[in-house]
Amino acid sequence: MNLVLVGPPGAGKGTQAERLKEELGLPLVVTGEIFRQALKEGTPVGLEAKEYMDKGELVPDEIVERIIFERMGEGDTGEGFILDGFPRNLHQAEALDGYLKSVGDKVDVVLDIEAPEGLLMRRLTGRRVCRSCGVNFHVAFNPPRVEGLCDSCGGELYQRDDDNEETVRNRLRVYQADTAPVIDHYRLKGILVEIDGSDEQGQVFERIVRELEKLRAHVGEE
Ligand code: AP5
Ligand code: MG
Ligand code: ZN
Repeated sequence: MNLVLVGPPGAGKGTQAERLKEELGLPLVVTGEIFRQALKEGTPVGLEAKEYMDKGELVPDEIVERIIFERMGEGDTGEGFILDGFPRNLHQAEALDGYLKSVGDKVDVVLDIEAPEGLLMRRLTGRRVCRSCGVNFHVAFNPPRVEGLCDSCGGELYQRDDDNEETVRNRLRVYQADTAPVIDHYRLKGILVEIDGSDEQGQVFERIVRELEKLRAHVGEE
């Protein structure tokens, strides 16, 4: 199964993608993570991407598309994949359709995780991320056992540079302008599944699993 996660910043794409990866045993490709890792390594792509990310703007299509299709060409996505953070505008959505078609494949399901804007802002400004293993925490909704330290590996927790109020506001604006049309693109194809992401993480995950089971049963009937 080829799965794409869309939804505004803070909806819980990363959080649910990690759980789905375990549940489905599929490789997970997260564009934001690829850029943050490139920056950590100080590569030219990482340094260029940072300029856009810090402002909450999209990284130019030619950079993102090259990186994503390189990653998908690594050979582990033949049985399926989970994409988080790509495609993020119509150009990228069409590029993905074209790429998959060229390898005899397609997107099967698009999960659109949604939550109200006030909640997105609270989730993002309170998010803390482990510097070593990348696990997400939240100061109020999902606090670590020891303040500032990761429960899984003991690593140091930090706040993403783009998780301040001003940048989040711009990310939400860019989402409405550029990414929302991607949702209609997939709705027209009949593969969009809308998920209410405003409840507790475990409940949202159960909701997703139920929807995927319904789809499987439906495919089985055909
Ligand atoms: P990216 O890293 O993809 O950020 P984003 O889309 O803004 O989404 P987030 O990661 O902020 O939110 P999320 O939905 O994953 O939420 P999470 O699960 O962490 O992209 C960053 C930047 O990279 C972009 O701005 C752009 O510049 C660039 N970029 C990336 N892809 C690109 C592309 N294709 N083209 C061009 N540029 C691109 O959850 C958030 C918080 O809430 C966490 O603290 C979590 O613990 C908490 N939480 C999650 N779920 C729940 C819940 N159910 N209840 C309570 N708390 C919850
Ligand atoms: Mg994320
Ligand atoms: Zn950790």
